[in-house]
Amino acid sequence: APPDADLRALIDAHLHLEGPLLPILHALQEAYGHVPEAARPLIAEALNISRAELHGVISFYHDFREVPAGRHVVKICRAEACQAVGGTSLADAALDRLGVGWHGTTANGAVTIEPVYCLGLCACGPAAMVDGQVVGRLDAARLDALLTEAGA
Ligand code: FES
Repeated sequence: APPDADLRALIDAHLHLEGPLLPILHALQEAYGHVPEAARPLIAEALNISRAELHGVISFYHDFREVPAGRHVVKICRAEACQAVGGTSLADAALDRLGVGWHGTTANGAVTIEPVYCLGLCACGPAAMVDGQVVGRLDAARLDALLTEAGA
């Protein structure tokens, strides 16, 4: 875990902002790939909010991770246009293949799978994003190949 002094310094650097909570969470996620558990009491104390309030915010914004992601992050679109062209069964197949639920990471640490709500590729769904790159017109075989390539 990162030392408290580092976490504190990062938190303090944002305290002058109006509404510092989200900038702090983003900075932590940027620095550590997730919001470290050890940072929570420090944030709550610095901002004078309860742990429950803080937890509410972290879980409301799906972008914040509570644990580090795997080496590759695969986001599958679960919005309407993609669902209408087979996105749901594609997502189910991927979760099955990886043996994890949404936001889960494979046991070998290779792949984290997350839902995303529209990638702007609605005309070429089902769509996904692999390490920040969008991929359209997915089918079971292509998705399977992407997961294999990612080491899942
Ligand atoms: Fe999937 Fe828009 S609905 S990309």
